[in-house]
Amino acid sequence: MTDSAALRSSYWIESAPGPRFPPLEQDVDVDVAVIGAGIAGLSTAWELTRAGLSVAVLEAGRIAEGVTGHTSAKLSALHTLVYERLRRTRGAEATRHYARSQSEAVEHAFEVSELLGVDCDLERRDAYTYATEGHHLPTLRAEAGAAQAAGLPASFVTTTDLPFPVAGAVRVTGQAQFHPRKYLLGLADDLRAHGALVHENTPVFGLEEDHACHVTAETGARVTARDVVVATHYPIFDRALLFARLAPRRELVVAGPIDADRDPRGMYITPEENTRSVRTAPYAEGQRLLIVTGEKFTPGTGDTTERFERLAEWTRRHFPGVEPRYRWATQDTFPCDTTPLVGPLHPAARHTYVATGFSGWGLSGGIMAGTLLTALIKGDAKPEWAGVYDPSRVRSVLREAPRFLKNQADVATHFVGDRLRPPSVGSVDELPPDTGAVLRTQGGRSAVYRDPDGKLHALSARCTHLGCLVAFNAAERAWECPCHGSRFDIDGQVVQGPATRPLKPRDL
Ligand code: FES
Repeated sequence: MTDSAALRSSYWIESAPGPRFPPLEQDVDVDVAVIGAGIAGLSTAWELTRAGLSVAVLEAGRIAEGVTGHTSAKLSALHTLVYERLRRTRGAEATRHYARSQSEAVEHAFEVSELLGVDCDLERRDAYTYATEGHHLPTLRAEAGAAQAAGLPASFVTTTDLPFPVAGAVRVTGQAQFHPRKYLLGLADDLRAHGALVHENTPVFGLEEDHACHVTAETGARVTARDVVVATHYPIFDRALLFARLAPRRELVVAGPIDADRDPRGMYITPEENTRSVRTAPYAEGQRLLIVTGEKFTPGTGDTTERFERLAEWTRRHFPGVEPRYRWATQDTFPCDTTPLVGPLHPAARHTYVATGFSGWGLSGGIMAGTLLTALIKGDAKPEWAGVYDPSRVRSVLREAPRFLKNQADVATHFVGDRLRPPSVGSVDELPPDTGAVLRTQGGRSAVYRDPDGKLHALSARCTHLGCLVAFNAAERAWECPCHGSRFDIDGQVVQGPATRPLKPRDL
């Protein structure tokens, strides 16, 4: 069994704590306000600042600590099995454009880190999508063919440097991996040096779009800006109802030291066993840190502790002697037609923009979003590939209508079904310490957590986004909404949107 008490959380955050930035306390006037300081927001802010525009970055928590601080940090244009699907649903040209834009993003990370002199452990690595079972081989061969036709240096191979046999793999050479926080803290440093405003602990709740845009922060301060970029993972100002085209998925990560001479060198992912992704990072003398990701699930469903155990067990079995020392989780948004949504926030938008839906490949995607949104905001010629990511695209969404309908059916099932399901615990008296459950109480369903000291933390179980019922994630001590993935801490504060308001406190 894993000793969860001894495990530490995200290696990226622990190994690069970074400086703190003050909250926004007074009104400011800038060219562009960027809401959200993950890789998409910070890359956009950096490109705009370097282009001479004044920028304010507003982050609800701490910069590069949300999804970006919890990824596996692969910088790759090979995205599991995306190319064959794109070729079928969007055609050869869109597939080429996707490959080119993602490859350019990988190279841009090298250019930026060299320009800024940022030591972010950036390493060239080949990327692999592998399978251990033979029945996946036709799929892998088709993916290798589609990726090659899209212009990537892709091939089908039957051997890798993994310490176990594979039936086959798609290999794309010359991709990369890095330390995402070191890279982004370098960008933030440069932003400050060039006069940009960076504010942490500044949740925002208001966006007015007029001749100028106004963003209102919870502190009461207002940003007036000609343009606004919403880069908050799930968009928090969602006037085109993009959330209906996105599905949230949570994924777990375990990491432990491995002798450097056992480094499997590449970056690997398999769709088997509910996805397993493997890479290493520089660690102590003579060691690398083996980082294994997997166990995709809808937030707020199932037992996360068991899932962590399964992933740790898989790691020990496939890399004997490696014992997880870190564990953390990340959350991604998956558009029903696979490609990210980057461009105008809604069809009538002239000065508001969005970047979301990176399907777990948000590092190359976020860098790509930075260059695309900068071109749109500056009024430069759009990159040839811009249309692939246009949020108002319709045809590909219609082609993927079954997925869209399934997303909506899942939401409806949670909205109705979770209310009909009997609570797992009858009363608060039955709740053991350090446990949470949704209970029937006076005033409706309540989300109740009993802390290790026995104190109860009671909240309305109604998610403040659209009213689905939250569920307790025991491994991460958080309330999660299965409909669109909002997350709240045990006192109801928003940890992750699209919800922007806390769960209401309940007096039991
Ligand atoms: Fe949409 Fe909870 S996140 S209802």
